[in-house]
Amino acid sequence: MKVGVFGAGTMGRGIAQLFATYGHSVVLVDIDEKYLKSGMEGINGSLKKLKEKGMVQENPETIMGRIFTTTKRSDVKDCDLIVEAIVEKFDLKAELFKDLDSIVKRDAIFASNTSSISITRLSSQTKRQDRFIGMHFFNPVPLMKLVEIVKGYSTSEDTTRIIFNLASSLGKVPVIVNDYPGFVANRILMPLINEAIFSLMEGVATKEDIDKVAKYGLNHPMGPLELADLIGLDVCLDIMNVLYQDTGDPKYRPAPLLRKMVEAGKLGRKTGEGFYKY
Ligand code: CAA
Repeated sequence: MKVGVFGAGTMGRGIAQLFATYGHSVVLVDIDEKYLKSGMEGINGSLKKLKEKGMVQENPETIMGRIFTTTKRSDVKDCDLIVEAIVEKFDLKAELFKDLDSIVKRDAIFASNTSSISITRLSSQTKRQDRFIGMHFFNPVPLMKLVEIVKGYSTSEDTTRIIFNLASSLGKVPVIVNDYPGFVANRILMPLINEAIFSLMEGVATKEDIDKVAKYGLNHPMGPLELADLIGLDVCLDIMNVLYQDTGDPKYRPAPLLRKMVEAGKLGRKTGEGFYKY
């Protein structure tokens, strides 16, 4: 397959790496060369680690040779699949898909890696709503097994089957979910993280102890505050806002401390500081 991946950030680079590892040819698109450069450096670092551990067979250079980077949208015109992983803003995604609909060949499937924006709403920007689906990967993409396959209102059974089989062929565990706010993963995860932030804000325990509770009492691999730093506090806030606005349910109100940290630019690992310093 030829796969166009939009966005060379944490998720986009992981998705590009995954497809290339499984032999697909990838066109990785971002708005600026500097993002593509840091994306490829990230992929190189990740592949080197995986190779050392015997988790990939080919050399990093061979796998990276299947990834073509570009800032031109038109370079994806003959792709069979588009996976969008740009910032989590509806207007930006909508503009991209509208434009791609007239660029990319008619029978190609469009997938969004959105973590919470409605697939139905995004698909309505295009004339291929039956070939539009959510393909929600998890961070770090090379290590996390799950892919949420999100069926929009008009997504066809054919499209769902093709994407389900594709995700399985990439060594992932696909799960089909319907298009409701937060799908399943974030509907469960984000309230957990948000509640951990409320606990910290109210002084119930220190950040280290809140994380210890989840790690040693619930057997989670990471505590919720460490995980929020990994995901990005801006992403967590965006998802809480979608859950809150789209359901109208006050149980999803974002913790004020989360808002304040995002306003302060303390977004987690990617900015060097979130709940912890990196
Ligand atoms: N590529 C290659 N290697 C990677 C990597 C990547 N992208 N990311 C991490 N690793 C490596 C680490 O560098 C480490 O290597 P070394 O041992 O050589 O240092 C190795 O993987 C294992 O890391 P750890 O020792 O920390 O071991 P771990 O067993 O804790 O595994 C983890 C790490 C898989 C991240 C684990 O902590 C985990 O599962 N954490 C939870 C992650 C999670 O919940 N992700 C979902 C977030 S939600 C989301 O993504 C969706 C959304 O919409 C918000």
